[in-house]
Amino acid sequence: MKEYNISIIKGDGIGPEIVDEAIKVLDAVSYECNFHLNYKEYLMGGIAYDVTGNPLPQETITGVINSDACLFGAIGGAKWDKLPRDLRPESGLLRFRKELAVFANLRPAVIYDELVNASTLKAEVIEGVDLMVVRELIGGIYFGEPRANDGQTAYNTMVYTKDEIVRIAKVAFDLAMKRSRKLCSVDKANVLEVSQLWRDTVEEIAVDYPEVELSHMYVDNAAMQLVRNPRQFDVILTGNIFGDILSDTASMVVGSIGLLPSASTGEKTAIYEPIHGSAPDIAGQGIANPIATMESAAMMLRYSLGESKAADLIELSIKKALQDGYRTKDLASYDAKHVVTTAEMGEIVANYIHKLK
Ligand code: IPM
Ligand code: MG
Repeated sequence: MKEYNISIIKGDGIGPEIVDEAIKVLDAVSYECNFHLNYKEYLMGGIAYDVTGNPLPQETITGVINSDACLFGAIGGAKWDKLPRDLRPESGLLRFRKELAVFANLRPAVIYDELVNASTLKAEVIEGVDLMVVRELIGGIYFGEPRANDGQTAYNTMVYTKDEIVRIAKVAFDLAMKRSRKLCSVDKANVLEVSQLWRDTVEEIAVDYPEVELSHMYVDNAAMQLVRNPRQFDVILTGNIFGDILSDTASMVVGSIGLLPSASTGEKTAIYEPIHGSAPDIAGQGIANPIATMESAAMMLRYSLGESKAADLIELSIKKALQDGYRTKDLASYDAKHVVTTAEMGEIVANYIHKLK
């Protein structure tokens, strides 16, 4: 039987609850599809700081690098906001991405027909939305030097090298080839030098992908177009900070931030995590929506383990649960027949996996 080593980081807030349900679903699908997953848990975020004094212990980095893939919950919370910047959970997360060299962040936003009414946008605008934000994750203004804040003046540096742009652009073009062959690159080339290099480099890569229809958009326009007519997009390629902002926008286009997974991939290993945060205000109440984490687990099976049948089975089972009216509290007002807890949603999806197999 095939075996895979999965590192698990539950993190803070609702992280542990949602990851537990994703594991339930992974256990069901690995049983049905005949492979075995070995899990090993590592600390990161606020909990890691509380236990070890470091939001990102070396043991976590080493463990994750040596695993086939990492399933990640969420980190952070007000409790740690007063710490010096480099000890905060968020700094741990950024260092984690950098250490693992996961430069390509894939954030799909797909509408569930059952939940078209959950978006604040009109159903006719969002029906059929199926897009993918490809965000560069370990460069740009998040990591650029110099950076400082002396209380009077503060600055950060937005920097991209050509090589960094080339490698993320290739990921986006390859994905576009597997999807509808449409790619929109988002920048601010009318103002920023770094964006001009971005645009010129993307144009150069495009030569190797003659079948992909490439367009460019300024980021302000892209933010507007995403809510005006999101169906015009398929793959969106962009840098770190623009991708951060546009992926949050895209998440609301499809209705709930509780539904959206992500993959962060690079040369070493890959991290799979929901795009939502740790929601400390609802932690421990059994009302968190575990679907984004289950979807992340499905992406992990597809992209890192090559178990695409198992991934399909998870996605189908989630869809079935939604079709049959099962909703966690966040979606209770959208055609819910049964409002269920976090743990119940895990059981329901796991049961569909056994039934639909
Ligand atoms: C995200 C988050 C992070 C980011 C924060 C928590 C550092 O917003 O993954 O989108 O800005 O990348
Ligand atoms: Mg963000």
